[in-house]
Amino acid sequence: MYNIIFVGAPGAGKGTQASRVAQKLNMVHISSGDLFRQALEQGTELGKQVKAYMEKGALVPDEITIQMVMERLSATDGANGVILDGFPRNLPQAEALDGAVGARGKTIDKVVYIEVSEEELVKRLSGRWLCRQCQAVYNTVNSPPKMEGKCDKCGGELYQRPDDKPETVKKRLDVYFAETAPLIDYYRRQGTLMTVEGEGSVEEVTRRIVAALPAEKLVVK
Ligand code: AP5
Repeated sequence: MYNIIFVGAPGAGKGTQASRVAQKLNMVHISSGDLFRQALEQGTELGKQVKAYMEKGALVPDEITIQMVMERLSATDGANGVILDGFPRNLPQAEALDGAVGARGKTIDKVVYIEVSEEELVKRLSGRWLCRQCQAVYNTVNSPPKMEGKCDKCGGELYQRPDDKPETVKKRLDVYFAETAPLIDYYRRQGTLMTVEGEGSVEEVTRRIVAALPAEKLVVK
């Protein structure tokens, strides 16, 4: 079992890379943002609880987020391990995760920090489109779908996230620097952090991540 966390600012490419690396290494990809968006789409009780926070670009309260991710982790057989994307997002979440993982006799093996300049983040978010059905991520500039508005993978309808509006992006970046960036030091002190340059092509960034992961636990497909 190999447990990895992807950390980085909104638009750094966590979702794009977590999905690619999970597929390559036969791991389970768990994205807190995707879980919340699915709940919103399905109009569940959880979706109703988180809607206002997400629309504003604020963090969903810890008790809701931690419970949701822990339930998802418990329901995971894990294949070769788990990649967490978007969780933890602040110190209380990181401490809750450490406690839960430790209680199962497991560890967080690596924390991949994807580093991207603020200018590039804003550019990427303004061109992002997502599949409503399978959550695949596209970009009008860098990785457009073959057919406009349609997902290459499942044919689902593509949409722009409401929180990718410029004013909400600014708020999300502020929240990231205030609440999530301190995690980088937290994991550096634990000795699990590795920083990966997140600019360059999607393929190049995937290669950098896989090359930087310690080889002994990897089962590359
Ligand atoms: P979440 O969905 O986690 O959003 P985020 O962290 O803001 O991250 P993004 O999904 O915006 O970016 P990403 O890094 O995954 O980039 P992507 O791969 O898509 O959270 C959304 C909301 O949910 C939060 O605001 C909060 O309300 C709530 N939430 C979620 N988790 C929470 C938690 N733990 N606690 C509390 N609240 C929580 O790429 C972006 C774009 O760039 C795409 O178009 C992509 O195609 C393009 N791209 C990717 N890589 C490259 C590249 N190398 N070159 C060029 N373009 C690229």
